[in-house]
Amino acid sequence: MKINSLDQLFEHELEDLLSAEQQLVEALPKMADAASSDSLKTAFKDHLKQTRTHVTRLEKAFKELGKEPKAVTCKGMQGLIKEGDDMIKNAASGDILDAGLIGAAQRVEHYEMAAYGTARAFARALGHSKLVDLLQTTLDEEGEANKHLTQLAEGRMSFSGINEKALA
Ligand SMILES: [Fe+2]
Repeated sequence: MKINSLDQLFEHELEDLLSAEQQLVEALPKMADAASSDSLKTAFKDHLKQTRTHVTRLEKAFKELGKEPKAVTCKGMQGLIKEGDDMIKNAASGDILDAGLIGAAQRVEHYEMAAYGTARAFARALGHSKLVDLLQTTLDEEGEANKHLTQLAEGRMSFSGINEKALA
């Protein structure tokens, strides 16, 4: 059956996002294991906790719509996670892999930000104001996670950045 209303399209976005977040819950522990830098490991572990909350929030969104939560395989996230896996296989562990993992993780964050931005716009158009707020909260957290990864890469914190270390 074809998607033929904005309601259905919105629901489809939520189903795709639920799959994306569920896949990320599986992938982040592997990325944390592969990272060498303690701050990067911590960033992945912290984002894992957040990502579990994102799953719960999406489940809430389905309930709010009077639907059972459903996930439809997000092929975009599958591809991004596969690229992260390939990075783990192909990059020398240490600073080089860390820099590569940040790149993979930032692709994931940008993808999610795009998806949540779309879902929020649909929620707004449909007048689901509670869902606009709920999706915005997750969108903000994805944005913060992305910014934190940039800081780790570029070293705007008290130590030199992972990119600089990877250069050495
Ligand atoms: Fe998320």
